[in-house]
Amino acid sequence: MAAQDFPDHIDPTLPGYPDPYPYFHHLRETDPVHFSRAMNGWVLTRYHDATEYLRDRRFSRAKLLEEIRAKFGDSPIVRLQSDELSFVDAPKHTRLKNVMGKLLAPQAVESMRAEIETFVGAILDRFEGAHQMDVISDFAYELPAETICAMLDVPGEDRIRLREYVEGVVLARGVVRTPEMIAAGDRAAREFVGYLTDLVRKRRARGGGDFLSALLAPREHDDRHVTDEEAVVMAEQFFTAGHATTRNLIGNAILALLRNRGELKRLREKPALLEGAIEETLRYDPPTQAPSPQIAIEEVKIGDSTIRSGDRVSVLFGATNRDPARFENPDRFDITRRDNEHLGFSFGIHFCVGAGLARLEALIAVGALVARLPKLRLASTPLKWRSMGRFRGLVALPVEF
Ligand code: HEM
Repeated sequence: MAAQDFPDHIDPTLPGYPDPYPYFHHLRETDPVHFSRAMNGWVLTRYHDATEYLRDRRFSRAKLLEEIRAKFGDSPIVRLQSDELSFVDAPKHTRLKNVMGKLLAPQAVESMRAEIETFVGAILDRFEGAHQMDVISDFAYELPAETICAMLDVPGEDRIRLREYVEGVVLARGVVRTPEMIAAGDRAAREFVGYLTDLVRKRRARGGGDFLSALLAPREHDDRHVTDEEAVVMAEQFFTAGHATTRNLIGNAILALLRNRGELKRLREKPALLEGAIEETLRYDPPTQAPSPQIAIEEVKIGDSTIRSGDRVSVLFGATNRDPARFENPDRFDITRRDNEHLGFSFGIHFCVGAGLARLEALIAVGALVARLPKLRLASTPLKWRSMGRFRGLVALPVEF
């Protein structure tokens, strides 16, 4: 779709556009600090503006939550967000992020490697002798939730139900929220919180060797102590923040490789390039296209625009990640790219706390798929992108092998 086909009243982060990148270039060149009527807020498209903004303490997430609460009331989905890392400011944010950061520290994440490999291997075993699959529903869909279920030691029989709660909550979290989205999110949030509260109480009573028990272990006087309510919200974020995002990273990476067969060939010849392929996907076609907006708490100048106190601001990562002022040949998918500090996991205090886990899952999944299916190619079906809030991912990715 060409740049001129994106009218201004359309939220560029919302619908499932096959190729929003020409539009993002157009915005960056003609109106880099753009006021989106659909989002009722500013969107930043230049890399430099975005990093300055993301470290600027004159913007607040807690204020965004106040606005959401004023509009939709203190409903279950809104209440659930109140203690989420994404919706709190420092100093509360600092304490909660430290706790979650330690829980998802590199060594702890690495301890999941064998389990993730086994799970990925088992999915691919199901396709022995087959010649086609949908990378999204047959392969990438189950992995993030299965990984988190294993980390929290959730019983096998509850896993499908949990995935449904997660889908319900995630769908209600677009940059644009409609009353219908909130109502569906409320139903899922109520059941999800009920389930996790029960799980936390059980673990409090009798700990185990899982991540939830580790989260609950510090006693009251310890800085890392969390209440049951905080533990529920953290467990919820494990699921909701890492579900669609990780699935889409796997799908977007496979698609980019299949459309850039020279890069796929290089990867097959040198599997050590896998890390570069995942990083390049996070830059080239980021699964999260925009962070939640923040509210300006005073007047701020960005570029030539004046952001007034109370205005909303977000970033288009798909635009910043292809800013030619920051990345050479930005539209080229190059798995050996150096100096690739993309914003696919954001930047500043709200930088993704699950980045290490997401990278590990994607490395194992994409690596195994490429290694085990040497004749992998795109099936000839037209591709359809999800209309899923600020997340970019395919509805299906049919492949043949
Ligand atoms: C490919 C997968 C992933 C991508 C692309 C991704 C991307 C992001 C981005 C862009 C943000 C900033 C959001 C904002 O400011 O509104 C973020 C925050 C966050 N992510 Fe991820 N994420 C991924 C996987 C995960 C996983 C697996 C987890 C946890 C298990 C996770 C947990 C979080 C949390 C808790 C935050 C909030 C951090 C904060 O506000 O301080 N993410 N992620």
